[in-house]
Amino acid sequence: GNGAQVPALVIGTGYGGAVAALRLAQAGVPVEMVEMGMTWDTPGSDGKIFPKVTAPDKRAYWLRTKTKAPVSNFFGFPIDSNIERYTGVLDAEEFAGITVYQGRGVGGGSLVNGGMAVTPKQSRFSSILPSVDAAEMYDTYYPRANAGLGVGAIDPTWFETAACYQYARVGRKHAQRSGFAWTFVPDVYDWNYMKAEQAGTVTRSALDGQVMYGNDHGKKSLVQTYLAQALATGRVNVSPLHKVTSVAPVSGGPGYTVTIDQINTTGDVVATKTVTAAKVFFAAGSVGTSKLLVKLKATGVLPNLNGEIGKGWGDNGNVMCGRANHMWDPTGELQSTIPCSGIDNWDAGGAFAEVAPLPTGIETYASLYLSITRTTRRAEFSWNASTGKVDLSWQTAWKQDSITMAKTIFDKINSKEGTIYRTDLFGGYKVWQDGLTYHPLGGAVLNKATDNYGRLAGYDGLYVIDGALIPGNTTVNPFVTITALAERNIDNILANDI
Ligand code: FDA
Repeated sequence: GNGAQVPALVIGTGYGGAVAALRLAQAGVPVEMVEMGMTWDTPGSDGKIFPKVTAPDKRAYWLRTKTKAPVSNFFGFPIDSNIERYTGVLDAEEFAGITVYQGRGVGGGSLVNGGMAVTPKQSRFSSILPSVDAAEMYDTYYPRANAGLGVGAIDPTWFETAACYQYARVGRKHAQRSGFAWTFVPDVYDWNYMKAEQAGTVTRSALDGQVMYGNDHGKKSLVQTYLAQALATGRVNVSPLHKVTSVAPVSGGPGYTVTIDQINTTGDVVATKTVTAAKVFFAAGSVGTSKLLVKLKATGVLPNLNGEIGKGWGDNGNVMCGRANHMWDPTGELQSTIPCSGIDNWDAGGAFAEVAPLPTGIETYASLYLSITRTTRRAEFSWNASTGKVDLSWQTAWKQDSITMAKTIFDKINSKEGTIYRTDLFGGYKVWQDGLTYHPLGGAVLNKATDNYGRLAGYDGLYVIDGALIPGNTTVNPFVTITALAERNIDNILANDI
């Protein structure tokens, strides 16, 4: 409540925040978690908590009056629709050169993501976080993160016949015929539940078009894993619809005054509160944490933060494309929204491509792919005093690097199969969706803006523990790495600072 004093305050309830809260609470430290989004536990009038991808309503988007679907067109027709302004689960946050998709709500990105839980190859780890002991990560912290998240593998025998993965089998065939390495990708979705969905014995979620706007069933989001465990300690309190706006040193004393706006479901501020915290963990996600720190440094609230604040931001090289298959390669009317495979051309071409679903309910003969690429482009957040907002220096043209890398896979497949790119999915006859990322990373990079464990330079008791620590790229989907790094860092913080 207003005026409270707490030992530890965590900003945000995504991966970094959930790990911090659980491990602090297990060590006996009471934790206050502040989350700007809602708690997603109550069905709407349709009996569902979340809408499906093909029928977004107000629950789908964070404070927008029109949807902004990543696949914006279908057979050339725009599909975005008007919705009521609401504190919905997916934020399509627009910067000048890129739209950054992020989860909003208790559970953060785990509410909206595809659950693809990929541990990068150890040989590639030093390119991600060169100051981190890789052996320790792979011996201790990646296994701990995989266990805590409930990561599981698809049954490869079941995969061969499941109708809902026809699209993935077509993806495999085309990848292998062109000589590419194709791999299954682990996921936090409950694979037994997935089998039961296919068998028709449970209420469908992944097989009913739910993913990007949330899953009612099947997916183990943080709400079922780390956050459930954290709450079970009895030492963690979560305040949803509360947004942190400032973190200022208490004058003359230890600790920080945290200013928090309570909002309603149309985004209006209904109360402003302050809480005093001995330690503050920034876990608002790469963008959320960077925006707060950049503003607090530039406006003189935290002037001793160093010059690395806001730097090293990247998009994990995300680009999307679709291919048009021949009539003898249908991808299926029934498609699981949870991807289960990828094409690995990282070493030769700098691209790892997820074989993604296009869950429209009808046969489209389309193969959709989200590629993660080895781009070296990095942008910077900066405070814009005239607008009172934080800008990001990303330029849309920088995506050309990623397109070139993704083309090392898909130009070859198209030429082998005698197929073409789809031009009807992203508007304006575009082949490449080059205007977005699902994987924002960086802005308060480990061992630069912080020490090697996330302690912010310049201020005792301030920590970064989310995707902002990772400099722009993880070579694969990022949340396992974010979780494992948070596990590593909180171990060190508990041993030395608490
Ligand atoms: P995360 O973004 O999870 O959490 C931050 C939280 O802080 C949010 O809940 C936010 O509302 C809150 N917050 C922000 N500012 C605040 C403030 N000022 N006050 C209070 N609260 C605040 N990754 C992957 O590995 N596999 C996958 O399959 C996918 N798929 C995918 C699909 C889609 C559609 C998206 C959008 C993203 C993915 N991702 C993914 C990415 C993954 O979800 C992402 O990398 C992590 O959620 C990032 O974790 P963090 O802990 O950094 O922040």
